[in-house]
Amino acid sequence: LSSKILIKGGTVVNAHQQEVADVFVEDGIIVVVKPNIKVGDDVYVIDASGKFVMPGGIDPHTHLAMEFMSTETIDDFFSGQAAALAGGTTMHIDFVIPLNGSLVAGFEAYKKKAKKSCMDYGFHMAVTKWDEVVSREMEIMVKENGINSFKFFMAYKGSLMINDDLLLEGLKQCKSLGALAMVHAENGDAVFEGQKRMIELGITGPEGHALSRPPVLEGEATARAIRLASFINTPLYVVHVMSIDAMEEIARARKSGQRVIGEPVVSGLVLDDSKLWDPDFTTASKYVMSPPIRPSGHDKALQAALSTGVLQLVGTDHCVFNSTQKAFGIDDFRKIPNGVNGIEERMHLLWDTMVESGQISVTDFVRVTSTECARIFNIYPRKGAILAGSDADIIILNPNSSFEISARSHHSRTDTNVYEGRRGKGKVEVTISGGRVVWENDELKVSPGSGKYIEMRPFSYLFSGIDKADASYISSLNAPVNRFKSST
Ligand code: URP
Ligand code: ZN
Ligand code: ZN
Ligand code: ZN
Repeated sequence: LSSKILIKGGTVVNAHQQEVADVFVEDGIIVVVKPNIKVGDDVYVIDASGKFVMPGGIDPHTHLAMEFMSTETIDDFFSGQAAALAGGTTMHIDFVIPLNGSLVAGFEAYKKKAKKSCMDYGFHMAVTKWDEVVSREMEIMVKENGINSFKFFMAYKGSLMINDDLLLEGLKQCKSLGALAMVHAENGDAVFEGQKRMIELGITGPEGHALSRPPVLEGEATARAIRLASFINTPLYVVHVMSIDAMEEIARARKSGQRVIGEPVVSGLVLDDSKLWDPDFTTASKYVMSPPIRPSGHDKALQAALSTGVLQLVGTDHCVFNSTQKAFGIDDFRKIPNGVNGIEERMHLLWDTMVESGQISVTDFVRVTSTECARIFNIYPRKGAILAGSDADIIILNPNSSFEISARSHHSRTDTNVYEGRRGKGKVEVTISGGRVVWENDELKVSPGSGKYIEMRPFSYLFSGIDKADASYISSLNAPVNRFKSST
């Protein structure tokens, strides 16, 4: 097979512009982007006329081969990535969970799990407890292991959850390392109380999951995390923004000039909670994730926030359990493993929901599915761009073709799909990963071990002049002015 590829005559889309041009790839790298490139016959030529040539999607939020809620997600680094490639995503950032409290041991375990990777990947690191060892391990992760982001769980009381004292320590350490702090923002103590209340009321089915952790608890934790990050004066990334309540806190903070990033996920953008009330347990339980999928109205508001830039990039939180695993909670919703699919569906659903409907432009589509993620995690323009010198992670999307989603045809190992039966315009017809055509004519050609670990560097701008900036910033917090003026 040729290591040289020419993509001819397509509309090449980057976040900053689109133009009709050819793209020439050699040895995994984009060599040149310009009209009318002439090549010899040792080059594999793909005709892309009438189609969009875009950077492969980067999913900032996945859980592959994760041990969680007494079981393990059934998509591993091979099956989950194969599904991603079939849907036009060529890189993902997965969350390392510490092993027996050790970040280093957790990282080693995930490196092992990821050996079977068939596309490029990076890691965030979850921090679930605090002591001197954890603090030092965070430094080791940043300085030696290519991790520049840490996730703190404000929910999952009794397992992953951390309290405010630990969150403050974590924010301080992120700041001093130049790493990005991420939060799962739900009030875990209140969720625990809500769950008890539901069980006392005899509500044990999947709908109890949503009722026990309403949007107000997501809004509260989001506001709290934002204010603590403001107090420490360090950037904050809010993962899986599922509600108007959380989104409005992010909007307000951003309006005041605070560096807060909001990540909606596909399930929150295109689903509502109606199926959680389905009397069939298998149907209802597959929609259980945290924060929960919200009532109709939140989805449209999150779409609007994405189109106006209040929210910046879209993930999936792909975290898949089959119906046998979901049935662990048949008598008690608290035991239903949390998580939904999306790694294969994200690009198609976003194209159809946001671009086809006219809510965002094609260049914005590239920004929210790829470029913004690459920028935030310091891997742009190696990733997230169709530019000379960038990695050859490329998709060809045909806007006149259509997709249809079903568990019968998807590439994930799970037996259900929360988007079952959805169809729409726009289909990823070709995926090129690391300079190889891995998806073409509805066929996957992937081999375990071809994916690379992408190291992500800390944010150097945080290292300069911190003390001076802090002094004036902290004094500004004491000023008797309303810094959060409402919009005019
Ligand atoms: O339900 C979810 N989101 N499962 C994955 C873990 C997390 O909180 O991201
Ligand atoms: Zn989470
Ligand atoms: Zn997650
Ligand atoms: Zn497929």
